[in-house]
Amino acid sequence: MDIDRIIRKNILALKPYSSARNEFSGKAELFLDANESPWDDDSRLNRYPDPMQRELRRKIAKCFSVPEASLFIGNGSDEAIDLLIRVTCEPEQDRIVQFPPTYGMYEVQARIQNAGVKNILLNEDFSLPVEDYIKQVDEKDKITFVCTPNNPTGNSFAPEVIETLVHETSGLVVVDEAYIDFSDSKSMIEKISHYNRLVVLRTFSKAWAAAGIRLGIAIGNPELIKYLNAVKYPYNINQLTAEKALSLLESKGPYDERRELIRQEREKMRQKLLEIRGIETVFPSDANFLLVRVKDSAHELVRKLAERGIIIRDRSQLPRCEKCVRITIGRPEDNERLLTTLKEILS
Ligand SMILES: Cc1ncc(COP(=O)(O)O)c(C=O)c1O
Repeated sequence: MDIDRIIRKNILALKPYSSARNEFSGKAELFLDANESPWDDDSRLNRYPDPMQRELRRKIAKCFSVPEASLFIGNGSDEAIDLLIRVTCEPEQDRIVQFPPTYGMYEVQARIQNAGVKNILLNEDFSLPVEDYIKQVDEKDKITFVCTPNNPTGNSFAPEVIETLVHETSGLVVVDEAYIDFSDSKSMIEKISHYNRLVVLRTFSKAWAAAGIRLGIAIGNPELIKYLNAVKYPYNINQLTAEKALSLLESKGPYDERRELIRQEREKMRQKLLEIRGIETVFPSDANFLLVRVKDSAHELVRKLAERGIIIRDRSQLPRCEKCVRITIGRPEDNERLLTTLKEILS
């Protein structure tokens, strides 16, 4: 299916910003084109970074085994979410589809673009409501966001079910795999060559332990990715971020030992939390957090923990998350401290 049909007309017609360095292809010796300072006091920070992040692109493409042209590199995957909506959704006309409860930024970015938001609730067991989706999806729905493992419920969706969504919509299906490194699930990245309307988001903010550098990627059909690259800020990845990301890629990447430790701690915490009197349910999780339902007020629990210096996330206002909090898995000693404090508060 033709990607251009999904893209807004003004974006199809856009001539992106281009710098002299972008247009030059020989061996450069003297840079007097970009009104920078000529003095390099601090590892090339006097210069603008490479707008197309060529070295980083090469290494990320290799790491994820995808062609360079299918990669958008962003200021966190939040930038990819924003740009995907901006290139596809005509304000006041088009919509995104999401499956609440889910990650909040899909809706926020859609609202900023003044696009509509079609909410189709997850089933009670947190599975995808495929029948409802088939009934409700239409040609104004330009993007369907699927988060797997889902934040905040922690469960994953089977690739075949996600593929059904791709077949049922004429828009994009964006699969947000921010937490997939903590799960046993198979990535949808390898399906990208089969479906040109499928996009996968990954981030360095979770298992890569680098939320502070702000680096996320979108992987998709080059025909679509070229529009994300056309609308991004020219220098969206700063030099310090690029250098840190290169060093992470050259070392082991997501640290296997720590990822394994988080998974073990997650299961240990699940058991121990269930033993605490005021806790009703701890949902199974494929991510680095647990969704926990308490017997009394989630809001009160969050407040009492905060008084003791511990911050967790109140999710009780979200649909299907009545009386629920989301707890990130920390280091073993952090988890112990939380358990001790919870016992004090809840018993
Ligand atoms: C599902 C999901 N996607 C994306 C993000 C944001 O990732 P980034 O830090 O790459 O912007 C988060 C952050 O918590 C998330 O939970």
